[in-house]
Amino acid sequence: MPPSPAACAPASRHLRLWWRRRGRAGAVAATFAAALVAAALLLSLSYFASLVPLSPNASPALVGLTLLRRAEEKGALCLDGSAPGYHLQRGSGGGSRSWLIHLEGGGWCRNLKSCASRQKSILGSSHYMERQVEFAGMLSDDEDQNPDFHNWNKVKIRYCDGASFSGNVKDELQNGTKFFFRGQRIWEAVMDELLLKGLRHAKQAFLTGCSAGGLATYIHCDGFRALLPKESRVKCLADGGFFLDVEDISKQRTLRAFYSDVVRLQDLKRKFLGCSSSMDPGQCFFPREVVKDIRTPVFVLNPAYDAWQVQHVLAPEASDPQHSWQDCRLDISKCSPDQLEILQGFREELHDAMREIKQKKDWGIFINSCFIHCQTLSSLTWHSPSSPRVNNKTMAEAVGDWFFDRREVKELDCEYPCNPTCHNLVFSKPFKG
Ligand SMILES: *[C@@H]1O[C@H](CO)[C@@H](O)[C@H](O)[C@H]1NC(C)=O
Ligand SMILES: *[C@@H]1O[C@H](CO)[C@@H](O)[C@H](O)[C@H]1NC(C)=O
Repeated sequence: MPPSPAACAPASRHLRLWWRRRGRAGAVAATFAAALVAAALLLSLSYFASLVPLSPNASPALVGLTLLRRAEEKGALCLDGSAPGYHLQRGSGGGSRSWLIHLEGGGWCRNLKSCASRQKSILGSSHYMERQVEFAGMLSDDEDQNPDFHNWNKVKIRYCDGASFSGNVKDELQNGTKFFFRGQRIWEAVMDELLLKGLRHAKQAFLTGCSAGGLATYIHCDGFRALLPKESRVKCLADGGFFLDVEDISKQRTLRAFYSDVVRLQDLKRKFLGCSSSMDPGQCFFPREVVKDIRTPVFVLNPAYDAWQVQHVLAPEASDPQHSWQDCRLDISKCSPDQLEILQGFREELHDAMREIKQKKDWGIFINSCFIHCQTLSSLTWHSPSSPRVNNKTMAEAVGDWFFDRREVKELDCEYPCNPTCHNLVFSKPFKG
């Protein structure tokens, strides 16, 4: 049976937090909702029903979509040929010359069929994108929720190219149908536009992204640094983007095979010239390889039991014909002792893949032992009284301390289930419908 994994990994957008206020007291009930590419799929998150009250100003700002100007002329187009877009919220006061850029995630498409269905979705066409999105967590303008970056200029760049902002195929026709594989050009054109809007005068800048956008952050980190003034402080952060090249429960390298297809389809080999030619082309797309060349300081923020990776890399449905992982895949508390042992092995592989990163003094790490995916864009996980903590630090505190060089940050959590502050997701269906 062919592996059928990541056709649509969740974007951070898919883990959106909905706040419902209960009266003036500001008590908040929150539920994560995960939308899928074609259809909306609700995740049930009973855990969050019993949440602690948050600050009364918890309701996130809505920020409008800006479509890239002269997109066609630049050939910087979404999969379907529409203009790409981004959401920009201007900074203020002490943050007016500071910029935080977030690259949206949402999996990859590996062949013309899956890219064609993406063309008819928010992940492949700006015709379908929301005209406004919520800025929460690391993008929040509320100081209580986002102590270090609240007054910065903040930009969320929408993901619509299917290959982590990396493709640059000139030909618009693939087997007689129009497909635009132009992620690299989208990245460059959006950066050009933002530079003109003030980014070129940045005193400090932070490139971030989650999931496929986290991978894009690794890929573009040094290029981003090079665009900015030499004296500026520039760093990067990848959230939930450390995808592992591991064998799944049936000894297949499902994600490597998937990445090989993406690399071939969008001709990404040219982008990864440093990657050894003896390797399978798919291997070059893994963070473990990409980070080898990065010279700019990067913060690696990842759960040790990334829920998306458990569902699509470690225990994909296609590798589990007996459905023995069905419950564990949806709810880590339902894993059997044998399954937990495999999950601990997965955590070990993550630590092993990060061995060199741990030695880099100027890189930051926050690996919590939670079953979740993308934690920076929800105020609940980023910085709240009930946020997951490692060594008693929230992600906002750890990332802020690292960005501003207040201390060296390498927060490594103990093994599941040791951390009672985790928000472990409970799914009614896997990320992919
Ligand atoms: C285009 O079509 C040919 C013949 O049907 C097929 O072999 C090839 O794989 C297709 N190309 C892509 C990128 O799907
Ligand atoms: C953990 O941090 C909070 C502040 O964020 C502090 O009030 C508390 O005392 C700390 N707990 C420990 C055990 O250090």
